[in-house]
Amino acid sequence: MISTCIFDLDGVLVDTAKYHYLAWRKLASQLGFDFTERRNEALKGVSRMASLDILLSAGGMADRFTAAEKQEMAARKNGWYVDYVSRMTPDEILPGVVRFLEDVRRAGIKTALGSASRNAPLILERTGIAGYFDAVVDGGMVSTAKPDPQVFLMGAELTGAEPAACVVFEDAEAGIEAAARAGMRSVGVGTSKALSRATTIIPGFETFTVNELTQRLEQ
Ligand code: BG6
Ligand code: MG
Repeated sequence: MISTCIFDLDGVLVDTAKYHYLAWRKLASQLGFDFTERRNEALKGVSRMASLDILLSAGGMADRFTAAEKQEMAARKNGWYVDYVSRMTPDEILPGVVRFLEDVRRAGIKTALGSASRNAPLILERTGIAGYFDAVVDGGMVSTAKPDPQVFLMGAELTGAEPAACVVFEDAEAGIEAAARAGMRSVGVGTSKALSRATTIIPGFETFTVNELTQRLEQ
């Protein structure tokens, strides 16, 4: 039985990874090094401050800055990121997402957002999908980031569901692990090898239905 579907935001419902990358690359460039797209993969699903640490290590600058300097750099990156996402439109919702969300709700299953991003409310508003969620848990509401299960456990609680009756949709390894730690099943969205621990994997939502979800989970 499925009571609640919990969706990650970045990389699952919208392709914001490109904006995160552009903003981190700009920061790296100001610090005097090039941050490659390949290295950027390691930032997916990771919190803002943890992402900064990975970036600084990539540039050979780990431990060079004070906590206050790091806060300022993260704020600078976020300013550019917010500029990008403020200009987002509903066209940037990934294919099949809205149809699938409607399918889920029609089946009587609750929906929750479980995102590490503090910008999640802004992105939901810009893309016009805020109304599809019974509960929204964003990065500003949790004290520990994925792979800690807190973000998904809150989504379960807010929708009145037992963890075992929740299914998490995730594109990042940290999120798949968070779902497992929460005692939830997971659907890996995408083609990354890092998703191999998910209960099941789909390339995207284009042809995916609640019927197929139920069948896959029964196998
Ligand atoms: C996750 C993204 O959803 O949110 C990460 O995958 C990002 O790349 C994290 O670092 C935090 O986002 P924000 O918007 O609060 O900096
Ligand atoms: Mg993600």
